[in-house]
Amino acid sequence: MAPRKLAAGNWKMNGTLAALAEIDRLLADHPQPGCDVLLCPPATLVHAAAARAGHIAIGGQDCHAQASGAHTGDIAAAQLVDAGASHVIIGHSERRSDHGETDIQVAAKAVAAHQAGLVAVICVGETEAQRDAGQTLDVISAQLAGSVPEGATAGNTVIAYEPVWAIGTGRTPTSDQIAEVHALMRQRLSDRFADGGDVALLYGGSVKPGNAAEIFAIPHVNGALVGGASLKAQDFGPIIAALS
Ligand code: G3H
Repeated sequence: MAPRKLAAGNWKMNGTLAALAEIDRLLADHPQPGCDVLLCPPATLVHAAAARAGHIAIGGQDCHAQASGAHTGDIAAAQLVDAGASHVIIGHSERRSDHGETDIQVAAKAVAAHQAGLVAVICVGETEAQRDAGQTLDVISAQLAGSVPEGATAGNTVIAYEPVWAIGTGRTPTSDQIAEVHALMRQRLSDRFADGGDVALLYGGSVKPGNAAEIFAIPHVNGALVGGASLKAQDFGPIIAALS
């Protein structure tokens, strides 16, 4: 089995009900894409999005490691499933920086996602200081080892490589830099998991219609996790087409 191709959009803390019209536009423009498509809207929109998403999968942007309990403001993986989600982003760098999430916490959340039947989209990525210090491969190896739990399979896990310095900045690594990290991730996952060679590996960080095709041509890049350019169908649509 080859890794499945996935165009994933992360709306982050953007959008109200009116934004769901973008899903209608995507469905109209791309009724049968040649790749899987996932949108992760804010939690407030997951249920309504799932009700009109057609072939587009809907995901959450985070879940709690516990199944239920006294955790005000948090969301359990099973609650995302109940709202219609099939995926959840775990360990995004904005969660790691804004909420101090550690690899151990990320792995615990991924276990909770798996137990609820969700596909965990686990994010890793180096800061600019770490890249400048020549630590990128060590950082990614450590994050993979710490954040991807036992029990991860190609069916329940997707890995997104998102250099922190490329998120929302308009800057992207060179193709060689992306290729180097993706080859490392493929090797690490293959070493550790029976079907690690089939886990979908996404690149994320300033993916746009204008650079998507070049990024998707890089070995071991099986798709993208797109932030800003996933908010509008006119931007996300061409990225889906480039992957199809
Ligand atoms: O989850 C998505 C990433 O953080 C990328 O965001 O495409 O706006 O750079 P961006």
